[in-house]
This record gives sequence, C-alpha cells and structure tokens, in this order.
Amino acid sequence: MKKILVTGGAGFIGSNYINYTLTHRDDVEIVNLDKLTYAGNLENLKPVEGKKNYHFVKGDITNKELVDYIFRKFEIKHVINFAAESHVDRSILGSEIFYSTNVIGTNVLLEASRRFEVERFLQISTDEVYGSLGPEGFFTEKTPLDPSSPYSSSKAAADMMVQAFHHTYGMPTLITRCSNNYGQLQFPEKLIPLMIINIMNDKKLPVYGDGLNVRDWIYVYDHNRAVDLVMEKGKPGEVYNIGAEREMKNIEIVKLLLNSLGKTEDLIEYVKDRPGHDRRYAIDASKIKNELGWQPAYEFETAIDETVKWYLDNKPWWENILSGDYKNYYNLQYGN
Ligand code: NAD
Ligand code: TYD
Repeated sequence: MKKILVTGGAGFIGSNYINYTLTHRDDVEIVNLDKLTYAGNLENLKPVEGKKNYHFVKGDITNKELVDYIFRKFEIKHVINFAAESHVDRSILGSEIFYSTNVIGTNVLLEASRRFEVERFLQISTDEVYGSLGPEGFFTEKTPLDPSSPYSSSKAAADMMVQAFHHTYGMPTLITRCSNNYGQLQFPEKLIPLMIINIMNDKKLPVYGDGLNVRDWIYVYDHNRAVDLVMEKGKPGEVYNIGAEREMKNIEIVKLLLNSLGKTEDLIEYVKDRPGHDRRYAIDASKIKNELGWQPAYEFETAIDETVKWYLDNKPWWENILSGDYKNYYNLQYGN
C-alpha cells in the first residue's frame, strides 16, 4: 500500500485528485492534511468519506509538530503539496498569509520529508511563476522565473526552495507547473465558476480591464492525470509544465458561458483592472508529453459543457458556499 500525504485536499484540485485516485486505485492510502481555510470544503470529499484508505486531518502545514506526527503515525513516504493560498486578488489585498502558507508551509513539509526520508515529494506549482507573456511565445521549464503578484512570488519562492532541497540534500523532489484549471468543485471566486453562478443568478459579470488578457485552460482531470504520472514516472529534481494548448481571452470565456446558459451580453460589466494584471499565459508542455507520454484526454468544448452542467446540477453545493453553510460540514462530520 502506497501512503501519500496530500496537503490541501479539501480545495478544488486536491479534492478532485483524492476522489479520482481513491475511486480508481485500491493500492493507495491517502492522508489529507487541510487547514479548512475559506477555500477548503469537506463536502468536496463526499465520494471518499468513510473509505478505509482515506484519512482526514484538520491542520496547518506550518505546524511542525503536527506534520511530524503525521509522517510518523502514517509512515509517509510520498507527499503531494497542493496546500496553498491560491487566489491572486486576495494576495493583492493582503500578502502575509500567502508567504506563511506557501513559503513557510512548504519549508515545514520539506524539512519533515528530509528527516523521514521520503521517496517522492511533489510540489504543485503554477505557470504564474514565469510572469507574463507578450502576444508571442510560450513558457518552457527553462523560462526564468519572473513572478508579478504576491501569490505568484510566493509560489516561485517555494519552487526555488524545493530545487535547493534537491541540489543540497539529494531529496527526490518534483515540481509541476500547470496552467489555469477549470472543472467541478472550483471555489466561486475564480473566473469560470464565478461567471457561471453570476449568470445563473442574473448578476453582473465583472470583467477586469479590457477583457483581453489571455489564460491557457486545462480541465482539472487532465491536470490530475499528469500529477499521477509525474508521481509514478517523473525524474527526481525535474520540473514539468502541464497545459492543454487552449488559450482564450477572458471576454471569450465570458461570452461562451453566457451563450451556453442562454443569457445575453447585457450582464457583462467592464470593471477596473487588477493591479499588475498578467497579460498572457501559455504553456509549452512538450517535456511531459515527450518524456512521460502524457496527453490531455479532454477537448475543451466537451469539458466546459460538463463543467457548466455540473454547476447547474449542483446548486446546493455552491449555495452552501454563498451562504457560508459549507463551514458547518466539518462539525457535522467530525464534531468540534
Ligand atoms: P484552493 O484554494 O481551491 O485550495 C487550497 C486548499 O489548501 C484548501 O483546501 C485550503 O483549506 C488548503 N490550505 C490553505 N492553507 C493551508 C495551510 N496552511 N495548511 C493546510 N491546508 C491549507 O486551491 P486549488 O485551486 O485547488 O490549487 C491547489 C494547488 O494548485 C495550489 O498550490 C495552487 O497554487 C496550484 N495551482 C492552481 C491552479 C488553478 O488554476 N486553480 C493552477 C495551477 C496551479
Ligand atoms: P482567476 O480565475 O483569478 O485566475 P488567475 O488570475 O490565477 O489567472 O482569473 C482568470 C482571469 O480572469 C484573469 O485574467 C483575471 C480575470 N478575471 C476577471 O476578469 N474577472 C473576475 O471577476 C475574475 C475573478 C477574474
């Protein structure tokens, strides 16, 4: 039985990872360490609740004693660090928690991983560490890090620390840098779920600046399939970009969602731009394709339709978030 410590497993990508892995594999045991910040939602993990090979620990990755306890108790040899403060706009409003969780938290996990001699440490990073592109070109793994927001700079700092632990101690680390994800269970502060829910509620759709910023979109399942592959076959010390070659301007996404939900463009409202707003992200994923044989499995058109349908079919999930009731789920499941 492979024992994996998954941090941040109650968030969007981590919960999709756990649900997917534990419904497809029975040779894996997962310990999910999550602080349950505003972004953590235990309802995301209903499909695995009660499974023998799933354990939830509410706690902070910056808590050394707790992290040590988990490594010892569960004999952890594999780590996937999804835990992070992940929203750029929040990082602009206040950066401290970003550096605490994303930098110090990663350091605590690395130090514990060193002491307990882990066999695999995967840092889930982002293409945002590379900064902003002009109209041409793509990020490769060799593109220099040039982050622009407090969020992306905290992720870049963590990446450098992970690399340093590999170079200095020979730790078997891996880093993935993925583009913008979409799919079910994404917290409705990010572009796609926010717009879907606002459209359903006939609320205005705040488009930053001129709406022409470009993001490169990938379905969350394709990201997690790559995570699995890198854990199995990635070469220690390496960085792998992950992306599905699907660049879209923000305004194109908003119009596509309006169209798909049968509403008109009057809902669009151009608002003040995000400070330091990165213009364009675009991933060159040829390394993971050529070296590990990964390919995205989903077409954008199919996956975005599935995503819209999921939010239509799962109104209680996002209504609980809008009302704040999702925070009671922990007490209902685990007591105070
Ligand atoms: P998310 O905000 O939905 O989830 C983050 C999770 O981490 C939450 O469950 C939260 O409770 C938990 N967490 C936060 N601080 C913690 C702490 N100190 N200790 C323990 N748990 C803590 O984020 P997401 O979108 O699922 O992103 C997951 C990872 O993937 C992040 O590292 C992010 O940087 C990276 N990433 C995200 C995207 C994207 O498009 N969402 C793209 C590329 C990379
Ligand atoms: P976001 O989902 O916050 O992801 P990131 O900033 O990490 O790429 O935003 C995606 C794009 O959408 C980004 O260019 C900012 C823009 N955006 C809006 O125009 N309006 C919004 O309300 C939000 C949340 C984002």
